[in-house]
Amino acid sequence: MIKKLWPYTSGYRKWIVLGILCSGSEAVFELLLPLVMAKIVDTGIPAGDTAYILRHGLLMVVMALISMSLGIGSAFLSSRAGQGFGANLRRAQFEHIQKFSFQNIERFSTASLVTRLTNDCNNLQMSLMMSMRLMVRAPVMLISALVLAVTISWKLSRVFLIALPLLAVLIVLIIRNVSPLFGTLQERTDGVNLVVQENLSAIRVVKSFVRKKYEEEKFKKRNDALKAVAEKAFGFVVLNMPIMMLITYGTIIAVMWYGAPLVQTGELEVGLLSTFFTYITQVLMSLMMVSMIMMMITRTIACGKRVAEVLDEVPGIQDINESGLTVSDGSVDFDHVYFKYNDGSEKWNLQDIDLHIKSGMTVGVIGGTGSAKSTLVQLIPRLYEVQQGTVKVGGRPVQEYTMEHLRDAVAMVLQKNTLFSGSIRENLLWGDANASDAEIEAACEAACAAEFIHRMPEGYDTDLGQGGVNVSGGQKQRLCIARAILKKPKVLILDDSTSAVDTATDAKIRQAFRTQLPDTTKIIIAQRIISVSDADLIIVMDDGKIAEMGSHEELMSNSVIYRDIYLSQQEGVSLDA
Ligand SMILES: Nc1ncnc2c1ncn2[C@@H]1O[C@H](COP(=O)(O)OP(=O)(O)O)[C@@H](O)[C@H]1O
Ligand SMILES: [Mg+2]
Repeated sequence: MIKKLWPYTSGYRKWIVLGILCSGSEAVFELLLPLVMAKIVDTGIPAGDTAYILRHGLLMVVMALISMSLGIGSAFLSSRAGQGFGANLRRAQFEHIQKFSFQNIERFSTASLVTRLTNDCNNLQMSLMMSMRLMVRAPVMLISALVLAVTISWKLSRVFLIALPLLAVLIVLIIRNVSPLFGTLQERTDGVNLVVQENLSAIRVVKSFVRKKYEEEKFKKRNDALKAVAEKAFGFVVLNMPIMMLITYGTIIAVMWYGAPLVQTGELEVGLLSTFFTYITQVLMSLMMVSMIMMMITRTIACGKRVAEVLDEVPGIQDINESGLTVSDGSVDFDHVYFKYNDGSEKWNLQDIDLHIKSGMTVGVIGGTGSAKSTLVQLIPRLYEVQQGTVKVGGRPVQEYTMEHLRDAVAMVLQKNTLFSGSIRENLLWGDANASDAEIEAACEAACAAEFIHRMPEGYDTDLGQGGVNVSGGQKQRLCIARAILKKPKVLILDDSTSAVDTATDAKIRQAFRTQLPDTTKIIIAQRIISVSDADLIIVMDDGKIAEMGSHEELMSNSVIYRDIYLSQQEGVSLDA
């Protein structure tokens, strides 16, 4: 995992090395201080040599100042390196996620991706920061304090033979218990984020269905689950503290007990005994740091694994070759295509689709909810990869184009399409960044959007607000259609994109398509037969298969399903489709 994440420290490695050097030298100065102190107590004071005491006192001040500056330097460098590392990781993940197919994103869930990009990265950057401060300092302090203690008195140092193993066993026990909990902790954070994200993105629905109570319950459940595992995990972590204290004071008492007689017999000087106490505290404090680092690393491993998973995920749909091939015309062919969303599932979502559409044709697609109409058209811009058969655009398999060329040629308007915050013009320019005002106007005319835009006080400069909240559903659909037209696509797909538009406007839009986009292949999914009845070809979908195909007249005389739908709509009964 470290191997996987280490490259993201690039640009900050010199700060890391410098920071570690600083904190290492800080530790050395801190260790030398008590030795100078011992000299004052054992040599200066008994001799009553004031000059000696002052000289050494001054030396202590200087050493303390140096040690402090090194400490400040190391804190500064480590926070800089940590932040930089975090930023690198976030950017790398974000850029990689942009390449994900829908399938990749569905595998992680959006909420989990957000947690991995924020919370997990924060933990990792924090860990780098802390370990830069402590990783060298703690072992340096530990070993040197131990060595110095032994040189002062081997007899007294024997207390460590009991204290250290005891401590090690306890720390290992804690870590064993705590490490699986950290994985769960991050998963439950995902859970909380999922609820929050769903709730906020659908806040209008939540309010209109008065689902506040229900949503609160749902949130509480996930939040309590997170709290429970966090309490348990950190409960173990804080146990560390009292155990450390118990052992530290136990050791000090033992040293006093055995050290006092040594001083009385003159075997040990008082100054050295007090220095010895300092070293005991340092040994145990640095052990405490080591154990803290170990706890932190346990958590970091859980986070690092999750981040590495994102970085390792192979984008499900990739450009196979970098050929400059562009789509030559708007013909669309499905050669015996089979497709399912989930490789593991038994049932095909699309079965044996054999369909040939000539460039410039208008094709209607009709069928009940779940009959796989949307699934069918999503294969044309290669939003999903088929398992069997071939989808061709412009006479060539979609895989032969780069994603950019293919999706430039295939424009898709969804029923639930999104606009972004910004002005109407900015949103339309997504279709073609270089479109002139005249082109924008023409596209909006064709999509019947021009009339309402002109009625707005600021026209094309009207701000849409986040997700386009400032326009009605039907207006939003028309803007999305205009945006797609601006792409001048070879294939234009409307997935139920005029559902919120009245019938007369719907007809006007189709008429405009006919006159303004004669060469573009138009594929229109609709609920209302009237929206597709003038199409060159109508496809009736049923349960993932093409049930019937033909013109309106042919289907009226041959297809029972089609005639039923037609009659039910004639009677003014709306079909549940
Ligand atoms: N992202 C997805 N993952 C898994 N199954 C899906 C996904 N989208 C749609 N389906 C399933 O595929 C079938 C067809 O869905 P869809 O093409 O959206 O139908 P339609 O557009 O005709 O209403 C449905 O049974 C639906 O549950
Ligand atoms: Mg659909």
